[in-house]
Amino acid sequence: MKVAIVYVSVHHKNTEKVVKAMAEEINADLFNLNQSGNVDLSTYDVVGLASGAFFHNMHKKIIDFVKSDKLNSKQKVFLVCTCGSPFIDHTKEVAKILKEKNISYLSTFECAGFDTFGPFKIFGGIAKNRPNNKDLEKAKKFIKGVVK
Ligand SMILES: Cc1cc2nc3c(=O)[nH]c(=O)nc-3n(C[C@H](O)[C@H](O)[C@H](O)COP(=O)(O)O)c2cc1C
Repeated sequence: MKVAIVYVSVHHKNTEKVVKAMAEEINADLFNLNQSGNVDLSTYDVVGLASGAFFHNMHKKIIDFVKSDKLNSKQKVFLVCTCGSPFIDHTKEVAKILKEKNISYLSTFECAGFDTFGPFKIFGGIAKNRPNNKDLEKAKKFIKGVVK
């Protein structure tokens, strides 16, 4: 099974830490949308889409990617999100778009990520030192479940 993870990680590289741990665990290929939007996923069976949460949603580049024609209905997709408040599912909107496009949505991995947005900066940020080693272990367990 060939697995790709397409990601955007712009705030503190929190998401990048998580997807790198996942990719190493199962030998998946990583595509950073901030380096190139020209991604060919046609040979992949499973695709992960990953970013931080931005205003209760995944990053706009991920949303635009899902809306584009880069994914096909034979592929299975999982979502990864890091966020200051990991108590809300920030991937709902993207999961909904996948459903509308008849693309199989597998599941979501969400974990805390250091957040210094707006007023949080004054207090030194929230979710400090996250993702931590425990989060990365959970991420590895999640990805092994996805590809089994
Ligand atoms: C402009 C902005 C908006 C954000 N909005 C949210 C949000 O709605 N919910 C949340 O839990 N975290 C929010 N965050 C925190 C980020 O999702 C969190 O720090 C994430 O781990 C960043 O991932 P990255 O470092 O991979 O870009 C926001 C951060 C920024 C800079």
